[in-house]
Amino acid sequence: MYTGILHTHKLVVVLFLLIYLVKTFLLLSGKKEALQGFTKKVKVPEMIISFLFLGTGLFMIFQIPEIRTLLIIKVILVFASIPLAIIGFKKMNKGLAALSFLLLVGAYGLAEINKRRIEKKPISGEIVSDANAEGYDAVVHGKALFMANCVACHGENGDLQNVGAKNLQEAQSSEAEVSEIIMNGKNAMPPYKKILSEDEVQALVKYVFSLRK
Ligand code: HEC
Repeated sequence: MYTGILHTHKLVVVLFLLIYLVKTFLLLSGKKEALQGFTKKVKVPEMIISFLFLGTGLFMIFQIPEIRTLLIIKVILVFASIPLAIIGFKKMNKGLAALSFLLLVGAYGLAEINKRRIEKKPISGEIVSDANAEGYDAVVHGKALFMANCVACHGENGDLQNVGAKNLQEAQSSEAEVSEIIMNGKNAMPPYKKILSEDEVQALVKYVFSLRK
């Protein structure tokens, strides 16, 4: 469900931006008649798209396990752009219309950055985390990493299934596939390859497999 909403959101955001790109271009280049014609033509689709855009966005915000600053800025930009666009196009004010479009593009850019900028949370407790050290246990290390970084979506037992996460107890993927998804992410799952070492990913793979029934 969440994953479907996420894809719908991405699609309608692109359509929404395209409509605004055309409108802003027509306004800025002084083609008033073309703008009026275009606005009339896209009126109904635009209403549906705007409704889906805000509806899917709101739905997702209430499911996301941790709200980060960039996300808040993104939402503020989107909501600030709406009155600017309405006034800008009604009064044919080029400055306001352009500003509103820039805010929307900025919000879109922030969303892209936000997706990749995840932080590694420190593990708690005394754990041997050096894979070459004596007494190292990959599953123990993996569990500590998992508790710090993954439980918000997967839960302590791997079966929480928040934001469209798969039930890790019932997953069938191979070790290579699990390691691939941890490194590169998928849908709402963030990519971890920039913040976790190879040993840490391996430890997580071992722990993820230990959750299976
Ligand atoms: C923001 C939420 C979120 C966080 C945090 C998160 N995941 Fe995920 N994870 C997901 C989602 C969503 C999927 C399902 C992706 C898909 O297939 O659409 C997933 C899928 C997976 C899978 C694939 C299951 C399978 O075999 O099909 C593994 C393994 C996994 N996550 C491990 C982790 C580990 C390890 C961490 C911590 C380092 C982590 N996840 C952090 C959301 C998250």
